[in-house]
Amino acid sequence: MSEPILSAEGLHISYGHVDAVRGVSLEVQTGSLVTLVGANGAGKTSILNAISGLVRPRAGVIRFKGEDITKWPSHRMVKAGLVQVPEGREILAALTVAENLSLGGWHRGKTLRRNVDRMYERFPVLKERQKLQAGALSGGEQQMLAIARALIAEPEVLLLDEPSMGLAPKIVDEVFAVIDQIRQTGTTVVLVEQNARRALAAADYGYVMETGEISHSGPGRELLADEKIIEAYLGLS
Ligand SMILES: Nc1ncnc2c1ncn2[C@@H]1O[C@H](COP(=O)(O)OP(=O)(O)O)[C@@H](O)[C@H]1O
Ligand SMILES: [Mg+2]
Repeated sequence: MSEPILSAEGLHISYGHVDAVRGVSLEVQTGSLVTLVGANGAGKTSILNAISGLVRPRAGVIRFKGEDITKWPSHRMVKAGLVQVPEGREILAALTVAENLSLGGWHRGKTLRRNVDRMYERFPVLKERQKLQAGALSGGEQQMLAIARALIAEPEVLLLDEPSMGLAPKIVDEVFAVIDQIRQTGTTVVLVEQNARRALAAADYGYVMETGEISHSGPGRELLADEKIIEAYLGLS
């Protein structure tokens, strides 16, 4: 198999006395969609935050395009092409849609305008609402804004943390359609979801997490076909 674009080896993440992640290793192949599923509190966000430099792991190595990035600050990750859409979206409610989008491209200089226009083509609802405060958007529109803001940074690897959280089923379909488009353009995607069935169905490869460890891994559809895994680890969501 080719060299993975992103990998983690032996990750340990602690918050004080809480060992949130214990010895997790994973690999993400270029252009693939890899998902990390598991119950609330399993350690999924901690892993994404470690990859994107928001949390410093206690042990372990993270590699991106062959380089050890474990100790890089998060702004350096963004410049290198590793961009996260955080859990809860974290758009700036008091700023306009246009201002939120511009923030995604702070380091892109001349291409920013072009990239914003591309996002307006891709998400017409954001174009219509560009002058509105982002806080006035619906939950689904805010998620699209958060994704568009990340895409403006021209990621090679996009880290998505619970993009379907709190959204109505029809909007969840739209979010998954957008994720599919992103991956079809060649961007590698790491998707964290509590909606395990949807995520595994969309993924090339999946990791199932249980209380800080990976309990199972395999092609998404194989994990999905294993009712024991679905029942034991993922509930009936
Ligand atoms: N900032 C923090 N301080 C203390 N404990 C935390 C913090 N963030 C997460 N945890 C704990 O770490 C564990 C894993 O959390 P998290 O990575 O958010 O899981 P998930 O994203 O799978 O829901 C949980 O027990 C959670 O309570
Ligand atoms: Mg989480």
